[in-house]
Amino acid sequence: MTGSERFTESGHSAHPPRTGRTSAVIGLQWGDEGKGKFVDLLASGHDAIVRYNGGANAGHSVVIKGERFSLHLVPSGIMHPGKRSIIANGVVVSLPTLLQEVTTLRGRGVDVSGLVLSDRAHLVLPYHRGEDALREDLLKALRLAAKPAGEAPAVSGAGGNPGGGVSEIGTTKRGIGPTYADKIQRATAIRVGDLARPDVLRQKLELACSIKNATLAGLSQGEPVRFDPSAILAETLDAWGKLGCGACDTTYLIHELLDAGKGVLFEGANGSLLDVDHGTYPFVTSSTCIAAGVGVGAGLPPQRLGQVIGVMKAYSTRVGSGPMPTELLDSTGERIRQRGREFGTTTGRPRRVGWLDLVAVRYSAMINGASSIAMTMLDVLSGLDQVHICTAYEIAGERTTRFQPDGELLQNARPVYTTFPGFSEDIATARRVTDLPAPARRYVEFIQETVGVRIGMISVGPDREQTIEVP
Ligand code: GDP
Ligand code: IMO
Ligand code: MG
Repeated sequence: MTGSERFTESGHSAHPPRTGRTSAVIGLQWGDEGKGKFVDLLASGHDAIVRYNGGANAGHSVVIKGERFSLHLVPSGIMHPGKRSIIANGVVVSLPTLLQEVTTLRGRGVDVSGLVLSDRAHLVLPYHRGEDALREDLLKALRLAAKPAGEAPAVSGAGGNPGGGVSEIGTTKRGIGPTYADKIQRATAIRVGDLARPDVLRQKLELACSIKNATLAGLSQGEPVRFDPSAILAETLDAWGKLGCGACDTTYLIHELLDAGKGVLFEGANGSLLDVDHGTYPFVTSSTCIAAGVGVGAGLPPQRLGQVIGVMKAYSTRVGSGPMPTELLDSTGERIRQRGREFGTTTGRPRRVGWLDLVAVRYSAMINGASSIAMTMLDVLSGLDQVHICTAYEIAGERTTRFQPDGELLQNARPVYTTFPGFSEDIATARRVTDLPAPARRYVEFIQETVGVRIGMISVGPDREQTIEVP
């Protein structure tokens, strides 16, 4: 055997001719931009759809002829039979949650046979959810205790944390942060691959539960909950058995698909401004949400990522605590919330609403290398006399067009707005750019010019069909 034969016998030499196309759909704001809708739309042109980050903190909606599906862990291409649906190594998975989701989908006639999990994806276990809730409750209690009597408390989900300092993050309490923390801590982490080794799994759960029971007792404000390794083992194996889907090295699977000339679509969860490194820290999630996360969370080399489709809303929303310079706490905000049905897909919490923050979107387009933009919710702005776009911040008397990802410093940013005439027409039936009223077209053109990235698609309603392809 020659040296070169030895390196190609597995079919994976260092430089095989990988011909398959790759695309990624990434949120450019604080999540809920409408990623699910565009993943579903673009899935028809791909053979596999891959989740690479986050967990069941995500809630992605797909609406087909009025029928709504909410996806949390299952990739949003699942409505297209015959595609591979891959949950890659960067995702944190609660098996009971996944089972519930898969059962609901099966019950609605959706074919989930293409679903496969990475054997290196980490498991979210009951003590992770427990810790998430305990930490949030404790942080909230400390915040309230830190505020002088009579001062309006900064309530998560309604204005962030104006005074700065101690605050809960406003997490989804799905155990996301504690699971990623265990992944980094290593010794107490449990991965999908451990399910194939029940003895090892039992030992790991016993170790994890003894450490978690000790540490969580310290966080608990009341009688501490004790986690039982045998019960968790039984629940985990039961859910895995009922799921009946496979686990494998999804990195090799993705590369094999690409070698065979297949198209692979990567579905970002959460949003760029929630990215653990590049978002409004500490008011972020615990994973790499941006396009670069595809490399870490799915094993794709950075130079192999083709199209990066950045999804943005025509205005801003945010769930949980943290700065949001353009937040509207008035009747206009309430009107947009109601028209846009801005209530969380995962937690049902009302989303905070504000004018479009283009300083933030420009920053997100930059760090993702967005090749095009898909814009959603333009229809929601109909009926407003005027609309405003934040094009700069004033921070400490200085005007800047640079985003400030430090969550504490961003609290001090005052938005500088450019004002546009509104439009009153219902645009839900528009299917071509020319169907849009002139002020709506001007609004879109201004965004495209300011961000410097082509707007390739405009969504005017939740349904698959309510989409304009910009020629
Ligand atoms: P994701 O997390 O980015 O997938 O977004 P979500 O599904 O959490 O939230 C987006 C919401 O807006 C969902 O209820 C969608 O059905 C809905 N939606 C998507 N695009 C549009 C649009 O253009 N107009 C309106 N009115 N709703 C939309
Ligand atoms: P999709 O994929 C909106 C927010 C939470 C909270 C912060 C941390 O549907 O766009 P976590 O539970 O992740 O530790 O919470 O991040 N958050 C999201 N907000 N959409 C999401 O996902 C989100 N995922 C996390 O509200 O402020
Ligand atoms: Mg969502």
